[in-house]
Order: sequence, then C-alpha cells, then structure tokens
Amino acid sequence: MNIPEIKFPNLDPDFIKNPYPHLKILRESSPLHKDINSDLVLVTRFEDVKGVQTSKAFSSSEPADLHTFKKTNESGENYPYFWKTEEFSLLNLEGQLHGDLRGLVAKAFSTRQVQELRPFMEGKSSELLNNLKGSSFDLLADYAQPYSVSVIGKLLGVPEEQYDNFLDWSNKIVKMYDLEVSNESSQEAEIAAKEFYFYINELIDEKVKNPGDDMISRLSQVTENDQRLTKDQIICTVILLLNAGHEATVNTIGNSIVALRQNDIDTKDLDKRYEIKKIIEELIRWDSPLQFFQRWVLEDTSLGGYELKENSKIAILLGSANRDELAFENGEEINFQRDNLSHTSFGGGVHFCLGAHLARLELEVSFTNLFKNAISLQSEPERTGAFGIRGYKEIIVSI
Ligand code: HEM
Repeated sequence: MNIPEIKFPNLDPDFIKNPYPHLKILRESSPLHKDINSDLVLVTRFEDVKGVQTSKAFSSSEPADLHTFKKTNESGENYPYFWKTEEFSLLNLEGQLHGDLRGLVAKAFSTRQVQELRPFMEGKSSELLNNLKGSSFDLLADYAQPYSVSVIGKLLGVPEEQYDNFLDWSNKIVKMYDLEVSNESSQEAEIAAKEFYFYINELIDEKVKNPGDDMISRLSQVTENDQRLTKDQIICTVILLLNAGHEATVNTIGNSIVALRQNDIDTKDLDKRYEIKKIIEELIRWDSPLQFFQRWVLEDTSLGGYELKENSKIAILLGSANRDELAFENGEEINFQRDNLSHTSFGGGVHFCLGAHLARLELEVSFTNLFKNAISLQSEPERTGAFGIRGYKEIIVSI
C-alpha cells in the first residue's frame, strides 16, 4: 500500500496562522502522508509519534555514520561552523555517545540546581513586569525574551553584557531547523555559529581557571566512570542549551497568552481557578512551540499500517499528535481539568527534553506573575511565518 502523497503547505500563511484544521484532516484521513516537496513522510497521530520516539528503528542521526551529517546545502555550500556547533548536539546523536553525553550533561543540570534559580526568576519576572504595567508593550521583546535569556545566562554563568549577542546568535542559528532554509538565512547562521563558537571557547578557558557556581563550570568539571566532556562537546552543549531552551520557552509564553485571549479565557487569577501545573501542560499541548522533528529510518519497518524503507526520512508532527482525538478527548479544546497530561511537546524516549524541568519552572513563575493581571491584546498578532518553530513576530498587550 502506497503512502498518500501531498504537498504540505508549510509556507502558506493561512496554514501557518492556524495549521490545526488542516492537520486534523490529514490525521483523520491517514496516519502517514508523503510530502512531495521535502520527500519526508509525515507522522500525524499521537500513538505513531510516541512509537517513533521510543523505537530503535528510528534515529536522529544519519544512518550511514551515526555521528556525521550532511554538511552542505542544496547549492553545495558548506557551513563549517554551523556543523561544528551541531556535531555534539544531543539532538543529533544516538547510541552510546548520546547516552554518555546526556548522562554527563544531566549531572550538571539537576532538579536541585534548577530549583535554586527560582528566586532569581521571580525577581527578574517581577522587575520586568512592574516596569511595563500600565502601558502597551510587546510581550515577546519586552518580557519573554529578556526574561528567558537572563535565566539561561544565569544558569550558564554568562555575563549580562553578552545577552544581546546571545539572542542574536540564537535567532539566526535556529532558522536552520525549519523545513526550508534560504541561502541568506544559512549564511547568517554560519556567521552567528562562528562568533558563538569562539566566544564560548574563551569563556570555558576562563571558567576552568576560575570556576563558579554555574553550568559551564560544572560541565567543565563533571565526570562519570572516568569520562569527561571534551571542549567541543561543552561548546555544542552550551549552544544547544541556549538554542533549545530559549526560543521554545519564549514562544510558549507568547503562544499561551494569545491562546487564552483568543479563546476568551480571562487571565486574571487563572492560577486561582485551576492548578498551575495543569494550565502549563494544557497550553503547551494546545499550541506546541516546536511542531516537528525529523528522524531517519534505520531499517525496513512498519508504521501506521505502512511500510517504511531503510534510509528514508520522516517527520513526527508534535502539534498534530497533541490534538489527536484518539489520545485527547475534545483535543481541539483548551481544558485545564484534563487528566491526560502526556502530550508530545517535550518529546519522548531517549531525546525527551533535558530542560523540561527548567522550562516548567520558568513558565510557572512567568504565568503566576502574568496571571495577577487581566491581559488584553492590543492588536491581532502575526505569526513569524515558520512552521517548525511556532511563534509570533510580536504580541502587543496591555496589563
Ligand atoms: C517549553 C519549552 C521547551 C520545549 C517545548 C522543548 C521541547 C523539546 C523537545 C520536543 C525535545 C526533543 C527533540 C527530539 O525529539 O529530537 C527537546 C530536547 C531537548 N531540550 Fe527542550 N524544550 C523546551 C525547553 C528547553 C529548555 C529550557 C532547555 C534547556 C535550557 C532544553 C534543552 C533541551 C535539550 C538539551 C534537548 C536534547 C535532549 C536529547 O536529545 O537528548 N529545552 N526539547
């Protein structure tokens, strides 16, 4: 049986604005679709997405060599520093190397170390919001971005004067993760990756000489069974922590507040009416900030009743899986009393989000502060245009 072929409308502004009705049609008509533009098989249903995340038949690394990946774009251009910063990204690794690196990074990123950041987060969130009260402001540029970058900067031990560079590098590099990337964006990402690489390289030298109570110092020291992280592994990890952590958290804050207002849910004291943890999980489920991840098929295997060929590529659609009625009753509705909180927005299996504990705490602190107010949207916010990293250009609100 052939997988139904479609042209996935990932560049269509109407689809980007609200992809869920179209995703529902796809999901309900077939568990898999082949996108003839990208040649990717799209996995639309919750059960299959979970299956891919937890099966050894699928890999985040290219099968020919579990540790190298395509180093040129369609025009044959090379982006050496971009790939250098990706080489030891946990997201791209599998097997023993992934397990060993993840173990070491997790040791330097414990729940206790994250909880210790709570007072800092509360202070930063209140300081930013107190300065914005009574005026119209951009929830992303004026609150979520400075809040999130200062939390990650504090965690990593990066001086505050570098935060603007951090934001700029991260914004440029993450554009490489969408389904289609322009040559201009690739070139900007390469320059950003190079600057970022050399900056972190020097910072590690400083932290080795003068270690502090921060994650870069801990990553430089952490050991397990006589193993340590190499310098390149630490650089890739720091860049991953910023890129993976920052954009998704910022977009979750933005997507969530817009979702509440567009669904006529009053923000004032929302956390007094429902459990904050349930509010967070439901909002991340409802409009996932990361819509898809790619995997290679390592061996001929069946999925959703279809046969997938070794070496083919698939994309698991997290946002679609999260609306699947077979997993979430009335999945199109926001419901803060939902018992099933096991959405796919933080991934699953060996690649489950390593920063989920930090993200949840950042969101809890932000929402608790934001929900002290009735928030109103001052204009209809516009999407960035990207499918993969789902967010808005700006969100003008008043509180
Ligand atoms: C709401 C915010 C966030 C969301 C929705 C999110 C989502 C995800 C998802 C879906 C994955 C799995 C990717 C895959 O299957 O290939 C992932 C992995 C990861 N995330 Fe997050 N993330 C968030 C925040 C963070 C934060 C704050 C950090 C750290 C500062 C972080 C660090 C990571 C890392 C290191 C991985 C790679 C884990 C591995 O491959 O072993 N994330 N995240």
